[in-house]
Amino acid sequence: MKFFLDTANIEDIKKANDLGLLDGVTTNPSLINKEGRDFEEVIKDIANTIKGPVSAEVTTYDYESMVEEARKLAKWADNVVVKIPMTRDGLKAINTLSKENIKTNCTLIFSVAQGLLAAKAGATYISPFIGRIDDMGEDGIRLIEDLKDVMVNYGFDTEIIAASIRTNKHLELSALAGADIATIPANIFEKLYSHPLTDKGIEGFKKDWEKFTGK
Ligand code: G3P
Repeated sequence: MKFFLDTANIEDIKKANDLGLLDGVTTNPSLINKEGRDFEEVIKDIANTIKGPVSAEVTTYDYESMVEEARKLAKWADNVVVKIPMTRDGLKAINTLSKENIKTNCTLIFSVAQGLLAAKAGATYISPFIGRIDDMGEDGIRLIEDLKDVMVNYGFDTEIIAASIRTNKHLELSALAGADIATIPANIFEKLYSHPLTDKGIEGFKKDWEKFTGK
C-alpha cells in the first residue's frame, strides 16, 4: 500500500518524508487555503521536496477551463497530478487529459458508478471520500471494497486512493479492503506507529534491563 500525505503543509511533508515511508502528497483548495501562501509556490515547493506524485486541484469547473488549467498545473513539475472533481465536465476533461498523458486524480467520489465512470474516462487515480461517507451514516469502507472489485473485474489500471481518512481504523480497513493508496492527514500519519502497549512494553524492558545491568 502506498502512503500519501493529505496536506499542503511543507513542514509536515518534510517530517513524514524523513520517515522514508511517504509515496506522494494530495492537496485541495481547502488545504491550500490553510497555508495562506501562493498556490503555484506551494505546489512547486512540495513537488521539489518529494519524488512521488503531488495532486494539485483545478479551481475551475467547466470543461474548457478545467482542461486549460490542468495543462498549466501539469507544467509546474513533472510529478504533478491534476485533481479533477467528479462531474460531467470533469469526466470529459479527464478523458481529454488522459489522451495527452496528463495524470489525473478524480476527486469527490461517493459511489461505485462515479468511480467506474472515472476509471473508464482514463483517470490515473480515483479518490473515494470515506470519512465524509461515514459522516452521512453510510459505509465508506464498503465503497472501497466495491470499487476494488470493479477495478479487478475489468482490469482497470486506475488506482484507488482512500481519502478523507479520519482515524487509524480508516487506514487499517482501507488496507484490508485493497485500496492501492491511502492519503492520510499529518496528525493521523504520526499516530500510526504508536500504541499504548508498545510504550508500556518499552518501559517494562527498560526497567528490567536496568535491574539486570545494575544501573
Ligand atoms: O483527500 C480528501 C480530503 O482532503 C478530504 O478530507 O477530512 O475534508 O473530508 P475531509
